[in-house]
Amino acid sequence: MDLRTFAFDDRPDLHERAEEIFSAGWPEFIFHDPVADQQMDRVRQWFGELNLLLVDGEDRIVAGGWGVPVCWDGSLDDLPGGYDESLVRAVALREAGGRADTLVIAAAQVRGDLQGRGLASEMLGLLAGAGEREGLARVIAPVRPASKARYPLTAMDEFMSWTRADGAPSDPWLRTHHRMGARVLRSAERSMTMKGSVADWEKWVGFALPASGSYVVPGALAPLVIDRATDQGVLVEPNVWVRHR
Ligand SMILES: CC(C)(COP(=O)(O)OP(=O)(O)OC[C@H]1O[C@@H](n2cnc3c(N)ncnc32)[C@H](O)[C@@H]1OP(=O)(O)O)[C@@H](O)C(=O)NCCC(=O)NCCS
Repeated sequence: MDLRTFAFDDRPDLHERAEEIFSAGWPEFIFHDPVADQQMDRVRQWFGELNLLLVDGEDRIVAGGWGVPVCWDGSLDDLPGGYDESLVRAVALREAGGRADTLVIAAAQVRGDLQGRGLASEMLGLLAGAGEREGLARVIAPVRPASKARYPLTAMDEFMSWTRADGAPSDPWLRTHHRMGARVLRSAERSMTMKGSVADWEKWVGFALPASGSYVVPGALAPLVIDRATDQGVLVEPNVWVRHR
């Protein structure tokens, strides 16, 4: 496939199509993470060079991915809590005029009909390259394992230890990172937090949530916790920190 890479900002003509492609296949709740939402305008404005589109010879979007620059000393203790905290740290660092040294790959997505052909690795490699050009020597990612939603009651620490007979991770998305030489650092227990009222959640998941308590909901990596007394539903999703070579 003849592929070209563009900064997302350089192709406004593709933005509408990108929105269609990249919003497909996600559970609705994923778009209701207040901490991430609060950072997103500045992330888009400030870190455009780390937001890429991969396009084929006929100018069709094949994949997209983006990341943020943070300062990280390389230790487990200094890792951001996960996706949300990476965005917060990147924005705060830029605001303070600090220098970043590490790329956090926040998301990568391949067009639905082109998945399973190794295009995600291509995208991850391109993002790492873009980070390097910005002086970001280290590359880490809070990976949202693609098959974890099938096991919402399993602790991430256990899930991420599951392997196939060949020793590779059981999860396909962790496997892509593993194949590229990335190693698992640790679980990110509170990577993303999605919040809404009970009515919001009922709309997002498509069924009634009549009582306070925990619910298994489609697409979620962990149980949703509903508190009717405060009219709030909270879903805290764990991810897996990996570090690329
Ligand atoms: C996760 C994702 C980026 C992987 O991209 P990809 O280009 O398909 O990745 P790969 O080609 O490296 O495939 C990885 C593994 O998943 C398998 N796979 C990928 N898509 C699949 C599909 N639709 N059905 C079944 N298996 C699939 C591949 O066969 C491969 O397995 P292998 O290790 O046994 O060869 C892509 O599936 C995607 O965009 N998903 C939706 C968005 C998402 O979850 N992003 C990650 C969080 S930000």
